[in-house]
Amino acid sequence: MNDRIGLHAPNDKITAAVALLKAGKNVAFPTETVYGLGADITNPAAINRVYEIKRRPINHPLIVHFAEMNRLDYWATDVPESARQLAEHFWPGPLTLILPRSSRVPLSVTGGQNTVGLRIPDHPIAFALLKALGPDKALAAPSANRFGRLSPTSAHHVHEELGQEVSMILDGGTCKVGLESTIISFYDSTVILLRPGGIPIASIEDILKQKIAFKKNQDITLRAPGTLTSHYAPVTPLEVWSTESIQQRAQELSKKGAWIALVVWSGFDHSSQASNENIHHFLMPADPIEYGQQLYATLRQLDQKGFSRLLAEAPPDDSAWLAISDRLQRASFTTSTHQ
Ligand code: TXA
Ligand code: MG
Repeated sequence: MNDRIGLHAPNDKITAAVALLKAGKNVAFPTETVYGLGADITNPAAINRVYEIKRRPINHPLIVHFAEMNRLDYWATDVPESARQLAEHFWPGPLTLILPRSSRVPLSVTGGQNTVGLRIPDHPIAFALLKALGPDKALAAPSANRFGRLSPTSAHHVHEELGQEVSMILDGGTCKVGLESTIISFYDSTVILLRPGGIPIASIEDILKQKIAFKKNQDITLRAPGTLTSHYAPVTPLEVWSTESIQQRAQELSKKGAWIALVVWSGFDHSSQASNENIHHFLMPADPIEYGQQLYATLRQLDQKGFSRLLAEAPPDDSAWLAISDRLQRASFTTSTHQ
């Protein structure tokens, strides 16, 4: 196992990872958002294997990761000025731009579409890996989890979930953002938010000096799995309830014998519930950045404890919490959303 998880990835681990990637193998690596399952985009077998490992339908596009800004026009064409502005401002960082694809990006990576999702990640190990691969290569890297499940925010999560199916897992510690990148599409010359994420939408609107619409469950032709309604989900059924009604829902379920985890953030007075041994409280940070860092790891832990139901307190109705509300909504699809 020590060989598979490179401890903080010293140089020899990067060299080994590059050799594996060049031989068409898959290597999981850390980014600031979540861990990615990497494949050389110029190697069709490696790309196919990503879909197999993830059990992901092949028409769902992958994000292409590269190391340096001067390669933006190598992987995309007709880059609009506004996209360039965002790239310059937020890269390296948790932002993915959907742009017209250059012919260097195979259709197998883009799910057959003429657009490509591009991102320069902000993590020293991702950077070292992409640099060592060379400027003519890039890594397709979806989150290193099975399709529809929670994204991994540590090397250990990747190991638990994908086990022996990846050739190597580079260990970069815990991801500092903890939620996936914000995805902005420039397709058809309209700017839209496809997935809220690590960069708050207000920061993007500040740079572009315009309001940007969130196209939830966008047109199927965009085929973005992160926009399907059931995604980023724990195994235990999860419900989202408002601060006012979450306690009542917990009482109702516990009377029926359910063993419940309450994931709360507001510091609402839970003392009246303390005596009920079927209801366990997990207090999350009241700050959206810290909450985002911990969300997936917390849901993973709760999954392992065997609760029959997870109840999450709805986040504040504020754009700084948009990515968190979005992930909780999608995670709760299997039951129903009660707000
Ligand atoms: O933070 C992240 O973005 C992480 C790390 C590893 O970089 N990656 C990630 O990849 O979340 P994945 O594959 O789990 O989610 C990528 C999302 C999907 O919803 C995908 O459909 C969308 O990006 N996407 C990629 N290319 C696209 C395209 N050409 N048009 C529309 N959506 C696209
Ligand atoms: Mg994913």
